[in-house]
Amino acid sequence: MPKLLITGASGLLGANLVLECAKNYSVIAVYHRHPIHLKDVASVRVDLTDERAVEKLISAARPDWVVHCAAETNVDRCEQDHAHALLMNRDMAGWVARAAMRCNASFVHISTDAVFDGRRSGLNEQDAAAPPNVYGRSKLEGENEVLKECPAALVVRTNFFGWNAHKKHSLAEWFLDTLQRNKQCNGFSDIKVKMLLVNDLIAILLQMIERRLSGIYHVLARDCISKYEFGVRLAAEFELDKKLIKSVGVEEVGLRAVRALNLCLSTEKIEGVLRKKLPSVTEGLRKFHQLQLADYPHRLKVIAGDPQTE
Ligand SMILES: NC(=O)c1ccc[n+]([C@@H]2O[C@H](COP(=O)([O-])OP(=O)(O)OC[C@H]3O[C@@H](n4cnc5c(N)ncnc54)[C@H](OP(=O)(O)O)[C@@H]3O)[C@@H](O)[C@H]2O)c1
Repeated sequence: MPKLLITGASGLLGANLVLECAKNYSVIAVYHRHPIHLKDVASVRVDLTDERAVEKLISAARPDWVVHCAAETNVDRCEQDHAHALLMNRDMAGWVARAAMRCNASFVHISTDAVFDGRRSGLNEQDAAAPPNVYGRSKLEGENEVLKECPAALVVRTNFFGWNAHKKHSLAEWFLDTLQRNKQCNGFSDIKVKMLLVNDLIAILLQMIERRLSGIYHVLARDCISKYEFGVRLAAEFELDKKLIKSVGVEEVGLRAVRALNLCLSTEKIEGVLRKKLPSVTEGLRKFHQLQLADYPHRLKVIAGDPQTE
């Protein structure tokens, strides 16, 4: 079986990737503060901000593939601490890419739609990125470091929702939890995104890996909707009260970092390669619900070692 080393294995994308790949790959799950344990998966705790530890980890593991999901994803924390953002999203990515390159492993780097400023929709991979905040800037610099260290890397700009293993809420989990408790919440009507279900993203990533793609790709849902509309569609899927969601503008809330308003990037490049349309947001939400009915969130909690689920 090919050996797949996953960084950020305790995060939203990483934990789902571990669970979905454990059957067909020999998986090495790298976490930092939140353990991940699954039968037949090697789990390793490493602080990837230590350059020597990165080198040691990858040269000892000798993976065929490295999928780099570890990052600082808290946009407002990045705005508050530029040095931390650059260490996590630029330097760490470059070190992991270099170590992968040294042991001839193929490298997949997870980036974000937020490298764009959101003034225009339909931007493609050749359009110049213009990050509106420190998070986006640090991720763009991460992409550049990765491609400098490992020119054949695959860089995937994405945005997603799904079920988390550890105690953290994706946008969908947050709306669901709030609405189920009959609490009111805000939904941004001026931020438009193309969020994929993380499990659909993983299926596409694995096809990209199989085809040995390299270079930058936008991998997002087929359609573009506001975060408010996302909440409304989730409420419809779970038969909850959509009137609890208040439509607000992002400026009304006063977040620390500026947010891009329109991140509806073009996905034509990947759709052309795979010769198919990517899933829609509504399809993603339906599958998100089906996964809940199939007890999938519980399986994730078990690999996170949540004692309430044992
Ligand atoms: N979530 C989204 O909607 C979204 C949107 C666009 C792009 N992305 C990109 O997708 C990727 C994955 O995002 P995510 O939401 O799955 O991330 P996440 O849930 O925030 O998880 C971050 C991961 O990074 C690990 N990490 C943090 N500091 C570390 C360190 N010093 N050493 C080693 N590992 C460390 C964490 O490990 P511990 O928890 O064990 O400390 C965790 O596994 C990121 O590159 C992100 O920029 C995410």
